[in-house]
This record gives sequence, C-alpha cells and structure tokens, in this order.
Amino acid sequence: MGLKILGTGYYLPEKVVTNADFAKIVETSDEWIVKRTGMKERHIASEPTHVMAEKAARMAVERAGLSPLDIDLILCTTVTSDYITPALACIVQGAIGAKNAAAFDINAACAAFVYALDMANMYLQHGYHHVLIVSAEGLSKITDYTDRSTCVLFGDAAGACVVGKGEGDFQSVLGSDGTGAHTLFARRPLNDIPFVEQADPQSVDHFPDVNRPGVLYMDGREVYKFAVNAMSTALKGACEKDGITPADLDLIIPHQANLRIIQSAAKELGLPLERFYVNIDRYGNTSSACIPVALAELDEQGRLTPGKKVGMVGFGAGLVYGGCVFTL
Ligand code: UT7
Repeated sequence: MGLKILGTGYYLPEKVVTNADFAKIVETSDEWIVKRTGMKERHIASEPTHVMAEKAARMAVERAGLSPLDIDLILCTTVTSDYITPALACIVQGAIGAKNAAAFDINAACAAFVYALDMANMYLQHGYHHVLIVSAEGLSKITDYTDRSTCVLFGDAAGACVVGKGEGDFQSVLGSDGTGAHTLFARRPLNDIPFVEQADPQSVDHFPDVNRPGVLYMDGREVYKFAVNAMSTALKGACEKDGITPADLDLIIPHQANLRIIQSAAKELGLPLERFYVNIDRYGNTSSACIPVALAELDEQGRLTPGKKVGMVGFGAGLVYGGCVFTL
C-alpha cells in the first residue's frame, strides 16, 4: 500500500536576510556564499516555532479539504521546539482544534520529514486515515551569528502535509551513524555534559567555543562527505526496494543543505540536475522543513500530478539519513 498527499501547506516568516546582510556582520561575501552553497536569501522568524507550525498546518488541512477533526494523528518534526516539553505536535493539535488526533514529535534533524512520512505510512496501514505532518524550524534561535561557517547557511520555515492511504507503493531506506554525532550538534542551554569531548577529543580544538550551550556547531567538511554518500545510498536503496532505478523517478525533492551536495548526488546517480527540485537560493537550509516546503511549492505549481514517481531524501545531525520513493 502507498500513501497519498491530500494537502500541503507552508509558512515563511516575513523577514528576508540576504548574503549582503551577512557581509555586514561577519567576514563573508555574496560571491563566497553563492559559489560554495547556492544560497542567496533566507527567511528569519521573529515568531516562535509553534506559530509557524500552526500556520503551515492550517493551510495543509484546508487544502486537503478536511476539517481538523478529521485528523487522527499529528507528527511534528523539529530541532527547535519552543519547549522541552510538551511536544510541538500537541501545541499544534490544540491550536488547530484537532480534537481526535494523537500527537507527538520526531527528532531526526534534517532527515525528519522522511522519517515522519515513513511513520505516517505505517500508521495508515494500521487503521489511521489522515496523518498531518508538520515540520517547523526556527534555526535562527540556535544559530551563532559570530560564526561565518554556519550562520549564513540556515533559515526559518514550516512545511506541512496531510497524507492518507494511496494506491501505489511506498518504499524507504532510513539509517543512522551516531559515531558522527560530534560533527553537527547543539547543546541544550545549561547542559555541560561533555559527550562531545569524549567522542572526539580533537573536536574541542576544532570548536574552541564548544562549551557554549544552545548554539549549533558543525564540521562542514565531515558532514558534506557524509551527505553526498547518504543521498545516493538512500535514494538508490529505496528505488531498489521498489523495483525501479533512480532514472525512473520523475521528480526528486532533496534536503537543501548545499547546492553542491545536490549536484554531486545527481552526478553519482547519473541523473540530470533538473530532476531535483531546488529552492535553496531563496530559503537556505531550513532543516526538516526543506522537503515539505518544496513539496508545497510543487503543489502550488501544479506539478504533483497523479502517477508521478517521487523520491525524497534527507540527511543531517545524528548523523541520520532517510530516502523514500512513492507514486503520487
Ligand atoms: O543540514 C545539515 C547538513 N549540513 C550540511 O550538509 C552542510 C555540509 N557542509 C557544507 O555544505 C560545506 O562544508 C560548507 C558550506 C559548510 C562549507 O563549505 P566548504 O567548501 O566545505 O568550506 P570549508 O569549510 O572547507 O572552508 C573553506 C574556507 C575556510 O577558510 P580557510 O581555512 O581555507 O582560510 C573557511 O574559513 O572558507 C572559509 N569560510 C568562509 N569564507 C567566507 C567558511 N565559511 C565562510 C563564509 N564566507 N561564510
């Protein structure tokens, strides 16, 4: 059994920050950022994560032609929830009045939307009818705006979709490598547990400010290597399970971490870049929100036509990765 996208939604905060704006606060340039990442602009939120999540969720439910009462499960993905507890999904459930829904969060960083879709697919096979997935990220809350190697990369956004049972197939490959945890992480505020130092003593030198909690640290080069490999492994694996090859995919929605990563994956898979949906120039990396925002844009463009084979692939902190393929 497969799944069907019934409705999509998204929310982008109003404030847009350009590469030129970053050149005013750190030693960088529009030329470097465009050449090394493909990014030009990103949106930065003044509103909390749950507000973005609620707006995207409402749009998805409305576009699905459903009432919030029709939703029986809400899965939220975020690494930037406003609260340690309760779950973001419960805040969304209460805000939209989805009185019949169970609700919980998934933390699989930038791969989390694919994890959520995979989980939704399983719930749909076990009696659930309408699953609302909401991926909302206020990454600006955990971005160190004195670190040029990370601050230019991230933006804020929320993407959502309602899924129900479909006719076709849904196949996925999910994976993780926790030995790479120290290459991309953010400590909770007030947390001085030294897991990073234990995992890799050298990372203390790499991140001299490593004891500062609450902000994101990334060894970009290490994550880059992981990402290129994870993209092709996950997509090829999901295709193989589905009895197809990547060339059979009509459309691929990748995580938007770096245009060069997408280009390398396209090359590795032997596919033209045009097969991949790219909006990194406008939004930067919005972690788990990248894929559902792209999905909602494609929906608005009328490109989610029934029968199309779609692939999605994400990777990120954990380290984790996930790829899936299904028929629209
Ligand atoms: O969504 C989560 C997953 N995240 C990712 O997948 C990110 C993966 N990594 C990347 O996309 C890339 O590694 C980055 C975009 C983060 C960095 O690009 P890079 O080509 O790997 O650069 P680099 O780290 O090798 O640094 C090259 C140089 C360094 O200077 P030196 O040491 O050669 O003098 C950096 O200090 O570029 C410098 N640099 C910058 N220069 C201008 C780093 N950031 C900047 C900047 N502006 N913003």
